[in-house]
Amino acid sequence: MMELKIQLIPTGEIILPPGKNGENFCHNCKVVASDGVRAMMESALTARDRVGVQDFVLLENYTSEAAFIENLRKRFKENLIYTYIGSVLVSVNPYKDLEIYTKNHMERYRGVNFYEVSPHIYAVADNSYRSMRTEGKDQCILISGESGAGKTEASKKILQYYAITCPASEQVQTVKDRLLQSNPVLEAFGNAKTLRNDNSSRFGKYMDIQFDFKGAPVGGHIINYLLEKSRVVHQNHGERNFHIFYQLIEGGEEDLLRRLGLERSPLQYQYLVKGNCPKVSSINDRSDWKVVRKALTVIGFNEDEVEELLNIIASVLHLGNVQYGGEEGSACITSDTQIKYLARLLGVNGSVLTEALTHKKIIAKGEELMSPLNLEQASSARDALSKAVYGRTFTWLVNKINASLAYTDDSHKHYSVIGLLDIYGFEVFQHNSFEQFCINYCNEKLQQLFIELTLKSEQEEYEAEGITWEPVQYFNNKIICDLVEEKFKGIISILDEECLRPGDASDFTFLEKLEDTVGGHPHFVTHKLADGKTRKVMGREEFRLLHYAGEVNYNVNGFLDKNNDLLFRNLKEVMVMSENNILTQCFDREELSDKKRPDTAATQFKASLAKLMEILMSKEPSYVRCIKPNDSKQAGRFDEVLIRHQVKYLGLMENLRVRRAGFAYRRRYEVFLQRYKSLCPDTWPNWQGKLADGVSTLVKHLGYKPEEYKLGRSKIFIRFPKTLFATEDALETRKHSLATKLQAGWKGYSQKSLFVGLKVSIAVQAWWRGILAKRRAQRRRQAANTIRRFVKGFIYRHKERCPENEYFLDYVRYSFLMNLRRNLPKNVLDKSWPTPPAALKEASEHLRKLCMQNMVWSYCKKISPEWKHQMEQKMIASELFKDKKDNYPQSVPKLFVSTRLNGEDINPKVLQALGSEKMKYAVPVTKYDRKGYKPRPRQLLLTGSSAIIAEEGKLKQRIDYGALKVTVVEFDHVIETLTKIAICAEKINNININQGSIKFTVGQGKEGIIDFTPGSELLVAKAKNGHLSVTAPRLNSR
Ligand SMILES: Nc1ncnc2c1ncn2[C@@H]1O[C@H](COP(=O)(O)OP(=O)(O)O)[C@@H](O)[C@H]1O
Ligand SMILES: [Mg+2]
Repeated sequence: MMELKIQLIPTGEIILPPGKNGENFCHNCKVVASDGVRAMMESALTARDRVGVQDFVLLENYTSEAAFIENLRKRFKENLIYTYIGSVLVSVNPYKDLEIYTKNHMERYRGVNFYEVSPHIYAVADNSYRSMRTEGKDQCILISGESGAGKTEASKKILQYYAITCPASEQVQTVKDRLLQSNPVLEAFGNAKTLRNDNSSRFGKYMDIQFDFKGAPVGGHIINYLLEKSRVVHQNHGERNFHIFYQLIEGGEEDLLRRLGLERSPLQYQYLVKGNCPKVSSINDRSDWKVVRKALTVIGFNEDEVEELLNIIASVLHLGNVQYGGEEGSACITSDTQIKYLARLLGVNGSVLTEALTHKKIIAKGEELMSPLNLEQASSARDALSKAVYGRTFTWLVNKINASLAYTDDSHKHYSVIGLLDIYGFEVFQHNSFEQFCINYCNEKLQQLFIELTLKSEQEEYEAEGITWEPVQYFNNKIICDLVEEKFKGIISILDEECLRPGDASDFTFLEKLEDTVGGHPHFVTHKLADGKTRKVMGREEFRLLHYAGEVNYNVNGFLDKNNDLLFRNLKEVMVMSENNILTQCFDREELSDKKRPDTAATQFKASLAKLMEILMSKEPSYVRCIKPNDSKQAGRFDEVLIRHQVKYLGLMENLRVRRAGFAYRRRYEVFLQRYKSLCPDTWPNWQGKLADGVSTLVKHLGYKPEEYKLGRSKIFIRFPKTLFATEDALETRKHSLATKLQAGWKGYSQKSLFVGLKVSIAVQAWWRGILAKRRAQRRRQAANTIRRFVKGFIYRHKERCPENEYFLDYVRYSFLMNLRRNLPKNVLDKSWPTPPAALKEASEHLRKLCMQNMVWSYCKKISPEWKHQMEQKMIASELFKDKKDNYPQSVPKLFVSTRLNGEDINPKVLQALGSEKMKYAVPVTKYDRKGYKPRPRQLLLTGSSAIIAEEGKLKQRIDYGALKVTVVEFDHVIETLTKIAICAEKINNININQGSIKFTVGQGKEGIIDFTPGSELLVAKAKNGHLSVTAPRLNSR
């Protein structure tokens, strides 16, 4: 049996190892396995009693702020910092590191449905990413919340999520690295410790992450918004300047500091001591320096660029230390150490710089005059230069990073985008100035966008699904936005007017103008306009705005200057001449010739925000609403008052009401069915029909009442949370029983695989049997056809060839020929021959002859000359004796020899007597006397002309073949000898064979008779009747 393994994940959810084929057996189910297996399943939703609800829309008492906050508290105490309001993520800053941002966590959220896992920033990131991929629409993630609530952290987590989970290649890896490394650099130059946040972003940042068609991040682009430049020259108590100054001083190598003329102590620098807070326990400037230095290299800064950048940073510190003295009316610089450093570091002429720092160029009657500055003016000129240098360098830095992140592949121009907005949050300090005014205005705008988009999208969803929408009242902050930005009547317009108008405009005239113009506005109050109670908490130099997020008193001091953001012309001229490459890019020569006054800071900011709204509106938004649990940056402290305030101004209750006004819960049909299908026998384990029908079947089975839900086009909408909870409870119970089954199922898993294998083989067998049966049937059909044709052909066989009989005739011919081929005669003596059909009789005869000729021919071809000679002799013998002599057949197989006596057997005298005559055959014979038939041994020799009887050395008798008549002889090899005689004498036709008795003449009229009788033994003797009696054995005849 297979072992059941489980994987434990810190958040309490347990995932089963994937099955053989990689499938997951059970989502969201908790299985505790030991030897005895106890299985418990738990979904995030059903854990609501312990840790509240993971989605506020499921709160039964959704209008109660207390219930809302209680839910937040419960979860916060359990370190569950994330909760949804529908698709909006509410995040509470834990102020401690939680183990929820590991790679494992990223993997768990990757490609998983939003609601199937507990709320997380990764879920938002993944959801946006998937929407971008599947719907092809650009996305943006808007992170809002007040300073220190965790916006920047959230945006970093999102970026990390993409960097790790998105597909990568070598080139993409570089982009990912640069995207990630842009953060420490921008934070070093743009973040600072404030009272609210040790790492507070003092600039707004909108970052586009560009993805190619494969979903890999291939580029990025950053837009920065209004850096809080005033921080360069001044910090409130308990706050710091931008991190980079401290990092450089703490971390910079000795050599570097020497080159920059810096000492390793922030206390030496006027610009770093204002807040009286150079050291912060939560910040390690030295190690941060290393991180920033490395990041600069990753982004693509070379050594020279880094040096030039640091020259500027050091210059700002030196500028801060420029001290003025001299008379009241005309300031002069008391120490020239700084000027020396500045001249070198900025690459400018020292005396020109000195003059520019103490004089102002005025043009009177077409003439340029240098007018000395008083102490105050000189200080503010110096600070203006510092702010300008730092501010422009920051913008240059953003541009430089953008160049390094730019998507350079021209072949694939098209890319999708996910925008990340991490902008300064709503801020309220004891003293609030122009910067806070801008920051809070920005937050008003974002809130407006949030209201519009969430309401709009909600409404659109109902419309799209064909569900009636019930409008909900909510506070629309448009009225405040208008108060700030309206043309001519808005605060920014009035401020600009005061900045631009001739005459003695001051921060106070600006305040008065405000009172005159917007004094009656319900969201605007000044000390003069306020009631007694408010007046107590307001200064005379302040105006109060009733923001959506709360009341803020702004001190008008510095508003005009900051809005003007002016740098004396002669200081600009000095910077234009700088040899520092960065500064020459920052201070453009054309700027000097441009007579047109640049837009004021507030107007520029307003325009950039309008552009930002456009960018955001063109994209599909997701929201992260960050909440700060306490003001002391402490882990585990849940400050209810503070939180209630944020919940209120973030509009979370309204958000919830809007969400709930229609339906508390909505899911796409497939998601709903997938989750709850086990609750209805008709939908378990799988629903085959249309999804909507499946959901309808399911909810009817569950007993949903008609008013409890609506079925849209692609989603089910459930009005009350309790309906969903009842369903969840049912699922819980069901899962318990399923868990037992799961265990059993697991046990049977291998069996099941076996069974599946078996099923497959059964299917294969059945299939094969089917094939065989088909083949058999086909064969049967063919056979029947053949038989039918055959029978028909047989009936018509004697007819002319016609369609009915052609098959039969062909078949008969074919089978005869095939039979003949198998049974051809093996030799010439074999007379067998298959009987041909009528149609082939003639052909058969021809074939037979051909066959015979062929056999004869091939036989003859094989015959040797000796054998031919032998055969010729046998032929002659056949003609002579066949049917004439009884024992002839027995003689046939006996081969004839060329002679029976060789030269040495014949007396030489005989041979000599023969002379030239060639002896052709010789055989021993027995001569019987004519008279007494006395046997006498003799030799018979045959020559070309005569037959000779020899006795030892004498030629006893020579008979010419012509005269050869009857000679009674008895000798061995009769047939052979006679055949030879016939051949030699050429008397084949003259030889008569007489088997009975032969008469012959025995001289002078006397006749002799020879009687032949068959017998068992050869016997030649004179018989009593005077005849010569010859008894010859039949079988052994010679
Ligand atoms: N998810 C988080 N986990 C742990 N600490 C966090 C988290 N979010 C914020 N913090 C802490 O809060 C501080 C302020 O967060 P930050 O994102 O800079 O706030 P904001 O950008 O909203 O002003 C961070 O420096 C960090 O110490
Ligand atoms: Mg921030």
